[in-house]
Amino acid sequence: MEPHIIATTPFDGQRPGTSGLRKKVKVFQQPGYLENFVQAIFDTQPDLKGGILVVGGDGRYFNREAIQTILRMAAANGVSRILVGRGGIFSTPAVSCVIRKYKTQGGIVLSASHNPGGPDEDFGIKFNAANGGPAPESVTDAIHARTRTIDRYLTLDVPAVDLDEIGSFQLGNAQIEVMDPVADYAELMESLFDFNAIHQLFNSGLFRMRFDAMHAVTGPYAIEILENRLGAAPETVMNGEPKEDFGGGHPDPNLVHAEELVKLTKGPEGLDFGAASDGDGDRNMILGKDVFVTPSDSLAILAANAHLTPGYRSGIRGVARSMPTSQAANRVADLMGIECFETPTGWKFFGNLLDDGRITLCGEESFGTGSDHVREKDGLWAVLFWLNLLAVRQQSVAEILQDHWRRFGRNFYTRHDYEGVDLAAAEALMDHLRLLVPGLAGKEIGGMRVSYADDFAYTDPIDGSVSEHQGIRIGFENGSRIVYRLSGTGTAGATLRVYLEFFEADPARHEQDTQEAMQPLILIAREFAQIETRTGRQEPDVVT
Ligand code: G6P
Ligand code: ZN
Repeated sequence: MEPHIIATTPFDGQRPGTSGLRKKVKVFQQPGYLENFVQAIFDTQPDLKGGILVVGGDGRYFNREAIQTILRMAAANGVSRILVGRGGIFSTPAVSCVIRKYKTQGGIVLSASHNPGGPDEDFGIKFNAANGGPAPESVTDAIHARTRTIDRYLTLDVPAVDLDEIGSFQLGNAQIEVMDPVADYAELMESLFDFNAIHQLFNSGLFRMRFDAMHAVTGPYAIEILENRLGAAPETVMNGEPKEDFGGGHPDPNLVHAEELVKLTKGPEGLDFGAASDGDGDRNMILGKDVFVTPSDSLAILAANAHLTPGYRSGIRGVARSMPTSQAANRVADLMGIECFETPTGWKFFGNLLDDGRITLCGEESFGTGSDHVREKDGLWAVLFWLNLLAVRQQSVAEILQDHWRRFGRNFYTRHDYEGVDLAAAEALMDHLRLLVPGLAGKEIGGMRVSYADDFAYTDPIDGSVSEHQGIRIGFENGSRIVYRLSGTGTAGATLRVYLEFFEADPARHEQDTQEAMQPLILIAREFAQIETRTGRQEPDVVT
């Protein structure tokens, strides 16, 4: 079948951001908009010709249409096999898993992660490379450059194909394989965690948990793994049916958006364990009875206990955390005698460290945790890791947390977000901080002596690439730290994030309320950056 060559003209603004090209659905629905971007992928990734491509998305509005377009274009561009999830569904970590397992030349993920879905909401597309991870900047830059000169795209003149039945068929010269989106991923999870131990925990009748899929992609994964394979009670998975608009909600697993789940863990009748994942299944939130595990603590705890799970029994090679993530993981790494890397915000910065075998586990304060099993952060993986620990240690989430703090000390941690701030004011605030930091080391702020202060820059130890201006860090001699950074994912104005951390070694003081305990540091951070004078904001919009 001959490809159809369709003339097109470039669209402005097709530069992929932190995690692919994300725009409103209406933008993607313009004739040629999606096609141009997809053609730019094929034009810049010659390995795909004659190769294998994985395609799938989080099921949000426009997912099915986009997949039909991509399949026709992939076939017209000479891709020989296309692996697509049934119904067009694949979670982001599952795409990564399938790329690696079948050694494909890459994958296309359709998602806008935790952003709402629907005709007036968000859509997104990104290309993952043959290692299973988000394409590095050199690749996204090339794709973007191509979108600026594109003048034609290739497609086939064929009707829509049926993606709801597992099986394979020809589309032009390409073979399409509609796969069970869960099977390979579930098998990988079974190879990493002690499913027998978790099964026994669920069977004991003493353990009550809920997993909130937030009407997003992890529903089918969680039902298959938790309920069908591990024997969790029916209805353990809540909001388990993926919906195109995520039930009108905001599929972001945090204390604000997963409020229903959080409530279920509170009080004398509270659940023993609560967990949630986001739109495309890469984020996670972990809750115990009356307790929330910060993503920073979660990474440290997984690192300290990894040897209790089959997949990591022989130990971990190293860990990495994004710069604003608390230093709890460093304390574990120090004690274990392994390296702990501090990388800029964004999962892609872990890729080289994982590929090179320098780290096994990594995580970010923004509810992302993962390991070298795939090249994306992985929500359900984190949940299963915790379940494995709960099953083996026979302790509650709170007990595991307290025990961890007793051993390593506690890094109290909070993030204060000022959203929708005037962009110029936010940039001026950061510029002002940049001017202040060079002379700060050795001086006192709010009675605490500064040990270092800088505008964080990272040199990748594998390829030597340098990423500058990644946020202001002020570290104090007593282990406290203040970090200021502008969000790279916001859409309206600027979001100023202030990340605060202080270290407490004394177990008698580990049970304090975080916000109360951190109040002095919070005030110091506000005053030092002149937040109120510069932004007009007295209080942050979101505190996590
Ligand atoms: C996305 C990326 C994460 C990153 C986060 C930061 O979710 O996948 O790796 O941590 O954005 O968001 P921010 O709004 O703080 O730039
Ligand atoms: Zn996500």
